Amino acid sequence: MARPSDSSLHPQRGGDAALDSRSARTFLRQWLRNPMRMASITPSGRQLARLMVAQLPPGASRVVEVGAGTGVFTRALLAAGLAPARLLVIEINPDLAAFLRDRFPDVTVACADARNLDALAGEHGLSASGMLDAVVSGLGMLSMRGTLRTEILGAAFRALGDAGRFIQFTYGPVSPVRRREREALGLKVRRAGFALLNLPPATVYVYERTRPPQAGVAT
Ligand SMILES: C[S@@+](CC[C@H](N)C(=O)[O-])C[C@H]1O[C@@H](n2cnc3c(N)ncnc32)[C@H](O)[C@@H]1O
Repeated sequence: MARPSDSSLHPQRGGDAALDSRSARTFLRQWLRNPMRMASITPSGRQLARLMVAQLPPGASRVVEVGAGTGVFTRALLAAGLAPARLLVIEINPDLAAFLRDRFPDVTVACADARNLDALAGEHGLSASGMLDAVVSGLGMLSMRGTLRTEILGAAFRALGDAGRFIQFTYGPVSPVRRREREALGLKVRRAGFALLNLPPATVYVYERTRPPQAGVAT
């Protein structure tokens, strides 16, 4: 990944502390409106963001982020050198999508459902020639129905190349994608690390495809 240009990181009005407090207030407001979908009362911390980004495949240059919230992982991806034009952010909440567009004016933010990830990646030219390298997910997978998880992962792996990775964190003690779901999708999982300083502490898992999905699975 190339080093980020100055314009890829929008100047943060009032510095990091002001931005953190604006993010926290925005996040809490959205949690009060829809706690199940937000799945967390507060944005992720920087230690977790670094751990997520460290799981990108070497040389990753095409990435989709889903469930970006107020942009903790977005910021870490750009800081790691990902070109803003090679990053597509998908966030279903319109207020958060507007927040992200304001914070990252050089990044395309789609206010959309992660279930449409493959179509959106195609529209934004990210899977036109070659495939995506990684999907970085801030979705609250643990609180989702299994069918929704499977739909989102199916869409992600239609857009990811053979060596593509789906990177996910969880507050739970085990993989938020159940064994049965992984088997249906032909995925293997690896526990990549633990962010003790996150509130609450979180584990990062990486999913990769080992074989085609089972017949009848919508992928
Ligand atoms: C646990 S928050 C994580 C936010 C941020 N990534 C972080 O770690 O601070 C989950 C986010 O996923 C978004 N979300 C939930 N369901 C979604 C879906 N189906 N498609 C896209 N975004 C979704 C929510 O609006 C929320 O912003």
